[in-house]
Amino acid sequence: MTQDELKKAVARAAFERIQKHLDDDDSVIGVGTGSTANMFIDLLGEAAHRVNATVASSEETKRRLEAHNIPVFDLNSVDEVSVYIDGADEANDYLQLIKGGGAALTREKIIAAVAREFICIADASKFVKVLGEFPLPVEVIPMARSHVGREIVKLGGDPVYREGVVTDNGNIIIDIYNMSITDPRQLESDLNQIVGLVTNGLFAQRPADLLLLGRESGVEELKAR
Ligand code: A5P
Repeated sequence: MTQDELKKAVARAAFERIQKHLDDDDSVIGVGTGSTANMFIDLLGEAAHRVNATVASSEETKRRLEAHNIPVFDLNSVDEVSVYIDGADEANDYLQLIKGGGAALTREKIIAAVAREFICIADASKFVKVLGEFPLPVEVIPMARSHVGREIVKLGGDPVYREGVVTDNGNIIIDIYNMSITDPRQLESDLNQIVGLVTNGLFAQRPADLLLLGRESGVEELKAR
């Protein structure tokens, strides 16, 4: 199976899982960003008339949802998010994640914080023993770029400015290389202390509740420990 076929399989598994939220006037579906999330959006599009409300984790996702005539709401105008479906750049067996490869980490983290259930969908190439082979993205206020870079070096990482990328919030992205993340919760806290760093892409303190992992043998379901 190709990577795209594995992504499609987990997107379909997620779509099957959220059936109870269709035709439900109280349900709000949080929708993530990236190629795997896009496959989920396209499936949701086939049932657009049955979707009560969604919230989008990026402008790109909002556009794609609206192109399917799926109603998209501002997060501030909904009472809660019933379920959040999103991909990841890396996941470990505690369902802690690295996200932000698509630069949408801040809005993704906000929706994950609000969501009652967070279902992560990924092909098996994303599953790792120790997080950190994928460079960890952080969103940064532009004027704090050098300061944040120096603080990242103190924590043992190699910061690299992602050229030409401006986030939906008007900020920049720094990718942290060469960080073997043995204590994701601690590093998430340490990064949160850096002034000018808006959000880091570690989803450890609020991991996924369920990981649908696309393998050659089928979709594996991993639950949070
Ligand atoms: C977006 O900012 C990321 O957090 C994505 O969830 C991540 O990059 C996964 O993308 P793919 O589904 O394209 O691999």
